[in-house]
Amino acid sequence: MFVRILGSAAGGGFPQWNCNCANCRGVREGKPGLSARTQSSIAVSKDGIDWVLFNASPDILTQLKQNPCLQPARGLRDTGIQGIILVDAQIDHTTGLLMLREGSRPLPIWCTDQVHEDLTQGNPLFNVLSHYCTVDWHRIVPSETERFTIPGVDGLDFLCVALKSAAPPYSPHRNNPHPGDNIGVVIREIATGKSLFYSPGLVEIEPHLVPLMEGADAVMVDGTFWTDTEMIDMGISKKRAREIGHNPQSGPGGMIEELNRFSKPRRILIHINNTNPILDEHSPERAELTRHGIEVSYDGMDITL
Ligand code: MLT
Ligand code: MN
Ligand code: ZN
Repeated sequence: MFVRILGSAAGGGFPQWNCNCANCRGVREGKPGLSARTQSSIAVSKDGIDWVLFNASPDILTQLKQNPCLQPARGLRDTGIQGIILVDAQIDHTTGLLMLREGSRPLPIWCTDQVHEDLTQGNPLFNVLSHYCTVDWHRIVPSETERFTIPGVDGLDFLCVALKSAAPPYSPHRNNPHPGDNIGVVIREIATGKSLFYSPGLVEIEPHLVPLMEGADAVMVDGTFWTDTEMIDMGISKKRAREIGHNPQSGPGGMIEELNRFSKPRRILIHINNTNPILDEHSPERAELTRHGIEVSYDGMDITL
């Protein structure tokens, strides 16, 4: 199974358009140790021809250009994307759907009822798309046992579990969390049993996630912030990381401590905010991750399981 990281940054990307924090300024100036990143998305394939897209970021057109494997050019109009799984309804995971409106068939999208509600009410992208290629919606019912397959994607199956993060600000349930606002996905190659656990938004590793993560060959999880008060300390927000659904890496109960429970899987961070010091390869924070054997994903990274 092939996993291609299309975008490793959180919402806003890196650098963020209006940000002059040390990281954003540094990457604009070409400072060694910093590299630009597009917004949160991965693609997964068994054969390298047919792919499942996880999330559709605002940077999707750039990502498609950077990853020609997703455009196999078998016909006048073509795409390697056979299905799209949305893990939540956030801007950085859904806006790219609008860029796919020229699709020659209805967009095959898998998401939960809660995400469907957000995308037909608070941010009605699906309604807008009904005037273009239309949406072929497949309901995800979060489950710890029921796997599903995607037509056209041979050899892979998917297990989607509810987990704690946050619904977007425009969601009817922003402050009233529902199971299904956010999911994690176990992507498995059926023939070998190899699997990836993917959850770019994750505030807490609840007990039901532990066996799934321990059993995976790689876990790719929320790497948004280093500290809970990162944006408050920089004076750019009043919100804590945990309040908006992201477990920071450092400190008690943080992602480093949580990930240290798992001995088998490769442990990889994704959805990294532009304020996070781990973006600087020469930072002490990055060195701390390296000491713990935790990897930081980057745009174009390939993982073969
Ligand atoms: C998040 O992950 O918290 C959101 O994507 C933030 C945002 O949309 O800016
Ligand atoms: Mn996000
Ligand atoms: Zn910044």
